[in-house]
Amino acid sequence: MSRKSLLINRSGLTHKVGYALRHPGRITPYVKRSTRDAWLRLKHPGHVAYYRAVMASDAARNPEAAVGSRSHERWLALGEMQFNYLAEHGLAPGHRMLDIGCGNLRAGWRFIAYLDTGNYYGIDISPDILISAKQTLTTYELQDKLPHLTITQDLKLEFLPSAHFDVVHAHSVFSHSPLDVIDECLAHVGRILAPGGFFDFTFDRTEGAEHQVLREDFYYRTETLLQLARKHGLEARFMDDWEKRPHGQSKIRVNNPA
Ligand SMILES: C[S@@+](CC[C@H](N)C(=O)[O-])C[C@H]1O[C@@H](n2cnc3c(N)ncnc32)[C@H](O)[C@@H]1O
Repeated sequence: MSRKSLLINRSGLTHKVGYALRHPGRITPYVKRSTRDAWLRLKHPGHVAYYRAVMASDAARNPEAAVGSRSHERWLALGEMQFNYLAEHGLAPGHRMLDIGCGNLRAGWRFIAYLDTGNYYGIDISPDILISAKQTLTTYELQDKLPHLTITQDLKLEFLPSAHFDVVHAHSVFSHSPLDVIDECLAHVGRILAPGGFFDFTFDRTEGAEHQVLREDFYYRTETLLQLARKHGLEARFMDDWEKRPHGQSKIRVNNPA
């Protein structure tokens, strides 16, 4: 990520006008998306209900695009990137893993294939994307691995056992989350982490003003999220080497202090 792109405020009028002049072909899709989103926000005032409706609308068109992949090749590549990074940074077949916002198993099918039977637990707020996740599971013939795929309304995680998960993962989830949703997750994730376990999450990073676009994309300063984790008694660090991967987001790792 260039220093310049880290300072952009995408919600600002100057940025929007400049962007529209540089990409005139994107004006009509943007206007359509903002109109749809304004309608969905009116119908669903809470963030989770609103974002669930966004996912329903996007997944009805194309589930791979709904999780952010322009093409099937990108869907495969993004899943592989997540898997390779975690496999190189501590994931082992015997681990129990919770994948928050598992989507349609873009990376999840690789985790399921790699982990021992029953050790993958995926949760998501969107029933539509979980239906697509089951299709992915079938496509890759991973039924025997018996993963758990569960709908959730919030990130209190109260239905999960204490000190259970070695790895908790949330890829491209906090990039779509207001701060109170991230705060809720960080307030509760420590309880379900096994001793020595860790929680990796990605986020859209800014080094300028924190901002959001259409209540769909949220940009945070690294320090905001590190401090939030520390407020909940967790250790947190920025994962520098993730920056070398061809991905627009940044990554933080959170640990329960021993
Ligand atoms: C961009 S997709 C990424 C999916 C998957 N992690 C991947 O990388 O392929 C974001 C997913 O997070 C889910 N999501 C958004 N907010 C969530 C929340 N607060 N709790 C759980 N899932 C959430 C969405 O429904 C969607 O499936």
